Amino acid sequence: MLKKISPLALRPGMYVHEYGVGSFNDPTVHLHRVPTASEIREIMLSGTKAVFIDPALGLDPRVAIQGLAAPYDPLASAEALRREIHVARQSYDASVRILKDVMSLLQQARNLDISAIEPIVDEVSASVFRNAKAGPSLACLARAPDLEAHSMRVAFMAAALGVRLELSEETVKKLAAAGLLHDVGKLRIGALRKNPRQMRMHPVLGYKMLEASIHRDVLRAVLEHHERADGTGYPRGLSLEKIGDISRIVGLANAYDRLLASGPAKESKEGHTPHTALSRLYLQSGAGFPVVEVAAFVRLLGVYPLGSLVRLHDGRYAVVVDVSEEAPLRPTMRIAFDARLKPIPSQIIAPFELEGENSPLQIKECLDPRPLRLDTERFIF
Ligand SMILES: [Fe+2]
Repeated sequence: MLKKISPLALRPGMYVHEYGVGSFNDPTVHLHRVPTASEIREIMLSGTKAVFIDPALGLDPRVAIQGLAAPYDPLASAEALRREIHVARQSYDASVRILKDVMSLLQQARNLDISAIEPIVDEVSASVFRNAKAGPSLACLARAPDLEAHSMRVAFMAAALGVRLELSEETVKKLAAAGLLHDVGKLRIGALRKNPRQMRMHPVLGYKMLEASIHRDVLRAVLEHHERADGTGYPRGLSLEKIGDISRIVGLANAYDRLLASGPAKESKEGHTPHTALSRLYLQSGAGFPVVEVAAFVRLLGVYPLGSLVRLHDGRYAVVVDVSEEAPLRPTMRIAFDARLKPIPSQIIAPFELEGENSPLQIKECLDPRPLRLDTERFIF
């Protein structure tokens, strides 16, 4: 018997009978087979509302559909996200200060006791279990370039991804610890950081520094966070199946944070926007990063992450104030500017208002707010 599931509950191995919204322009697609990884990705982001699965011919979706029943309340969700970001920001700032002390001791090799990071791991874990979107959303907004701040952001993003992938609390804590420590090898490179060959040594140096101090799964992520699914990573050029689960997730979070720090062109001073960074990762899914993890990451952050500036079909501009994991293409937005970018009384737009083929509220494009000198963060809080 066929089962109807959300496209976001689709997993590799499921037999897809058909999917689609049934309109004239978007008729039902009859697939009648197990889709490939790239087809799953297309279905997930197609805007399709339902996928019909045949559990007799493929993976049973029962586990995947659990938890999808809760109705999405955009205003309550935006408010909950705002509250948790506020808590996470305090934890983020305090944790960065503790991490600076730990890194300083590690650099001097005076003390390899890294138990000082345990309270940070606990706080990151508690935050992502309360609201998985808050930590990564905060990480999109807080852009300090130093190693400790980067490590903190990777910890939040990796742990949140662990929650979304339904991993255990123990594994989520390992993800947070690996995020905090993944780049400590850079402390031993010091002034040689501008030398790319020296920099590629940092996973091995980090591994050696922490060898006797941390759990082997976390240690493995320190060594493997620059390995890539297609074997083009370093230091060992491992293929996907040889890269550890924690290493893959930390590697993805690290790559995303690095894209936010570095621009599309070498000479650009500004990094990618959260939207363009996510698009880059999405294009690399399968080759650079595993499809399932990238899809979970897109679901977590939304196709238009928190704080994104978007132009609507009616010409007005809006800021994304919440993302719905059920509808990554339709965020909750606050319309803030007219078509000439002049401020107007703000108006919240819920995801369902973007439905319909000709809705003037649909998103036309995502823009970089920085050249326009717009601080989108003030529209979120
Ligand atoms: Fe690294």
